[in-house]
Amino acid sequence: MSALFPASDFTTNGVAVFPGAVSEDALVGLRKEIARLVDDFDPSGVTTVFSTDEGQGHARDDYFLTSGDKTRFFFEDGVLSETGDLLVDKHQALNKIGHAMHDLDPAFSDFCRSYPFANAAAEVGMANPQLLQSMVIFKNPGIGGEVTPHTDHTFLWTEPQSVIGFWLAVDEATQENGCLWALPGAHTIPVKSRFVRNADNTGTVMQTLDATSYPDEGWVPLEAAPGTLIALHGTLPHRSEPNTSAKSRLAFTLHCIEAEAEWSDKNWLQRPDMPFTGFLANPFPK
Ligand code: FE2
Repeated sequence: MSALFPASDFTTNGVAVFPGAVSEDALVGLRKEIARLVDDFDPSGVTTVFSTDEGQGHARDDYFLTSGDKTRFFFEDGVLSETGDLLVDKHQALNKIGHAMHDLDPAFSDFCRSYPFANAAAEVGMANPQLLQSMVIFKNPGIGGEVTPHTDHTFLWTEPQSVIGFWLAVDEATQENGCLWALPGAHTIPVKSRFVRNADNTGTVMQTLDATSYPDEGWVPLEAAPGTLIALHGTLPHRSEPNTSAKSRLAFTLHCIEAEAEWSDKNWLQRPDMPFTGFLANPFPK
């Protein structure tokens, strides 16, 4: 599978696969740091935000909209009772952690600025990549939900388009536990939607630019062994199924944009006091 998507064909396919990019030792270290974040996470302050009680919509929007320069924890749907109590252990309840660990946490800064990511960015042709957002994606067994077809440019808009997503398999990702699927070559299709802040900056709106759907044919599963790094062009449609298996499908993602591209102030992610930096600008020098 991976041989089908070499970095040299990234312009054609909009996807590149780097098998064995991250070493087993580095994955062990990453798992440890992710476990530390979750161990230290006190869910009590966040369950109120995600509670389905009337009137919590604004708190939830605000928690998300101000997370671009923070380390925040996001629950899966269905893991809270009507009164806001966690129905499962916090280690099983999370959808993701995001979005600025690469600038706030020395271990994640080192990891995101390590050779595999910097090399992949160069291999797919990025000229002056800036680190935009980092996420731990859990997709826990039996709980991790579906991600419907989308492009990352929809959410992380620059002029001209420049975002590239780097998706790392921490666990083995298979069709059974909800691996990525992509539509190779479809990055040439103009994006069909744009996710923007609403006029009064209190929430978000998905603007439809083209109401048609992506083709049903041509999707390929990007099954990946641990340590495989997958680069996705910002306009490449991708998706994943829910994890209905008993196997976890932990992943880590880093999104980069070009320094010369203009970051839109309509994007949900804003970091007014934290400028974007590149792979060499580690805020935690040793
Ligand atoms: Fe995505």
